Amino acid sequence: MDIALAVIGGTGVYRLAALEDVQARHFDTPYGAPSGPLRLGRLGGARVAFLARHGEGHALPPHRVNYRANLHALQQAGARRVLALNTVGGITAAYGPRVLACPDQLIDYTWGRESSFWDGQGEALHVDFGQPYSPAFRGQVLAAAQAAGVAVLDGGCYGATQGPRLETNAEIARMRRDGCDLVGMTGMPEAGLARELGLDYACLAIVANWAAGCGDAGEITLAEVLENVAAASAGLPALVAGLARG
Ligand code: HPA
Repeated sequence: MDIALAVIGGTGVYRLAALEDVQARHFDTPYGAPSGPLRLGRLGGARVAFLARHGEGHALPPHRVNYRANLHALQQAGARRVLALNTVGGITAAYGPRVLACPDQLIDYTWGRESSFWDGQGEALHVDFGQPYSPAFRGQVLAAAQAAGVAVLDGGCYGATQGPRLETNAEIARMRRDGCDLVGMTGMPEAGLARELGLDYACLAIVANWAAGCGDAGEITLAEVLENVAAASAGLPALVAGLARG
């Protein structure tokens, strides 16, 4: 079975409402169970798989997500291209709340997560990761966004933090000095694992709030995050349908 596109939904995106003829399928993997069922259906005439990264009831915090099982399940289902939706905080001026961005770089600040499929048997796997997001697939995402009339910033550096707590002002100030534009808790090890599996992988970051100490950030609340994600996600069905077709 071939899947034209797999989508991993982040905080605030637990379903792809436009998906038609949906079947829920449960996959088992050598790495354990994925976050929930894969929802397989049609979008824009193409076969699309959707998986809610945190589970459909948002039961899994970022450091407890089984990233290996999720990607393995998507690959088993026949996916070759994975669009990761990641809810993030914005650090630099252009990346304010409700902005959509397709970053081209990342820095990994996470720790203690299962970050490789290589388990010590066989030949060590040192995949090239200079361009952590598949350049050609990023181009397809940006073209689909343009065709759908959805504004998406091209580029930026995603800093992946451990969570689940939000960052201190000093941590974000350091990330800004490091060159990060965006901060989120789920970008890694997902991107690295996708590369190990040879999947095309790109991130569509949904800015939910200013990161700590940035913009006019006050206390960051879940209500603010969900409201901004909902507003920024309005164009997603058209973008994803175009991407699936293309
Ligand atoms: N920091 C980390 N992860 C996030 C944030 C944030 O400010 N907002 C949404 N996900």
